[in-house]
Amino acid sequence: MALEAPETMRAVRVHAPGGAGSLVVEEVATPQPAPGEALVRVHAAAITRDELEWPEDRLPAIPSYELSGVVAVASEVDEVTVGQRVYALTAFDRDGVAAEYAAVPSRFLASKPHALDHVECAAIPLAALSAWQGLFEHGALESGQRVLIHGAAGGVGHFAVQLARHRGAHVIGTTSTATVEAVRGLGAEQVIDHTATRFEDWVEPVDLVFDTTGGERLERSPAVVKPGGRLVSVASEPQVEAVSAYGIKAVYFVVEPSREQLAAIAGLADAGDLRPTIDRIFPLAEARAAFERSLSIHGAGKIVLRVSEE
Ligand SMILES: NC(=O)c1ccc[n+]([C@@H]2O[C@H](COP(=O)([O-])OP(=O)(O)OC[C@H]3O[C@@H](n4cnc5c(N)ncnc54)[C@H](OP(=O)(O)O)[C@@H]3O)[C@@H](O)[C@H]2O)c1
Repeated sequence: MALEAPETMRAVRVHAPGGAGSLVVEEVATPQPAPGEALVRVHAAAITRDELEWPEDRLPAIPSYELSGVVAVASEVDEVTVGQRVYALTAFDRDGVAAEYAAVPSRFLASKPHALDHVECAAIPLAALSAWQGLFEHGALESGQRVLIHGAAGGVGHFAVQLARHRGAHVIGTTSTATVEAVRGLGAEQVIDHTATRFEDWVEPVDLVFDTTGGERLERSPAVVKPGGRLVSVASEPQVEAVSAYGIKAVYFVVEPSREQLAAIAGLADAGDLRPTIDRIFPLAEARAAFERSLSIHGAGKIVLRVSEE
């Protein structure tokens, strides 16, 4: 069974590497799902700062790698059925989902949280999976441990604060002045305004630093990790020489799609234990303004493109 899908669709495409200036909303062919893939009617898609730099060798490319929508075609797949409301992180090495339809391997698709609408659900997959994998897989965070999260109000950071608290960790966050109270509201026990003070002067040693900002905060972090502790970044590679002097493990990783982890995250959202923060919602037609905002504002949470109403 299949819902109607038109031959062409509206999509955002980036035509040159780097800035948002080459983004165009245009009519392109609706993708045909390959075996093992479902065609999803996209209702909302979220964006990540810096992502326009990722697809440099396959232009023009559709950006955005996280969606919430409804399965329109599911002819040769087992995991989902037509009409199912789903959300997903999609692969980075092919077209993304800032479009009316997306062909997505069904093993990446999880039922979206019932308690949240499509815009809220689209804000979750890439950032919450990054937080989950950074804290629990690469960071091995356990209940009772201390974690310092850099960029605690950001897309990845605001999920990391909530997930770490839910796991029973003691959470310390760094953020900018405007978002200190927001991070406290997410459940961090200690919040440090990194624009006003040096976090090293205030933080007792931690078991884990989870960095989402790169740069100076990442470089200065080894000094606050306990011997045998970990430094994990999604933003950039920690400098190995600086790290080895402190006897800690340092990791940079790239987030991977996971239907199982998204199902667990949906459970937390439905139980009221995890909430996305939406910085701003833009219509698909204003994707360029959405990317320009992500590159210029230290906001709170995620920027989402609304593609269609249900
Ligand atoms: N490796 C991976 O798999 C992976 C996965 C997800 C994200 N990422 C990357 O990790 C980073 C964080 O992602 P995110 O979605 O959390 O991004 P974000 O919300 O835009 O930024 C995270 C934090 O970085 C600081 N920041 C904001 N804008 C900035 C700018 N223009 N320049 C420098 N710092 C800025 C802010 O912290 P303060 O207010 O505290 O300054 C912000 O809260 C991004 O670079 C993203 O591309 C990588």
